[in-house]
Amino acid sequence: MRPRLALLPVLAAALALAGCPRLDPMNRQPKAKPYRAAPGAGGALGMRAPPEGTVPHGQLLPLEVATGLGPDGKAVAVSPVPVDAKLLARGRARFNVICAACHGVLGDGESQVALNMSLRRPPSLHQFRDVPDGHVFRVMSEGFGLMPSYAAELAVEDRWAIVAYVRALQLSQFATLDQVPPEARGKLEQEGR
Ligand code: HEC
Repeated sequence: MRPRLALLPVLAAALALAGCPRLDPMNRQPKAKPYRAAPGAGGALGMRAPPEGTVPHGQLLPLEVATGLGPDGKAVAVSPVPVDAKLLARGRARFNVICAACHGVLGDGESQVALNMSLRRPPSLHQFRDVPDGHVFRVMSEGFGLMPSYAAELAVEDRWAIVAYVRALQLSQFATLDQVPPEARGKLEQEGR
């Protein structure tokens, strides 16, 4: 027992030294520190700019599409995803499954859930006609106040499809006659009589 006990202080010293950064061989080896001039690189920084065209891992979508934010860090005014009939149909289908339960099939906030939510009723989406497209995208992605994020249920493309459909719903309630294509106006005017 004696000899082993005698080793204790030596062991303790070895452990203490192992934790000492100056003596740690990994710490001492030659390397370029991020913001210092790299040896042999003509004074360039140790932390190099990625070669042009480098695609960050895990983020293959353009930043605006993935985040709804423009280069200025603000929500993009207009969706970066081109809208066509197929995207709108997709948006409608996903909206009716996910959003309508709270915001109503027309997006007007009339839903069974809304009637029973005492804390904060899901608002009518027609109030949000003037917010940027990117904002609506981000509400779905990040959640907003009492509304949870739906990023797990909705792929990025689906979220943009819903943005387009929400715009269509808003237009359906607030369009003026001159926004209607001329060939459809006659029919509307007749129905309105
Ligand atoms: C579980 C109910 C629920 C679902 C489902 C839901 N929302 Fe909401 N939403 C809310 C509530 C509640 C608020 C108000 C949050 C607050 O102000 O705290 C809200 C707020 C919003 C707002 C307004 C944000 C602002 O700027 O004030 C938008 C836009 C919106 N929701 C869009 C959507 C879309 C699109 C979907 C479908 C992907 C969706 N919501 C699904 C409950 C829901």
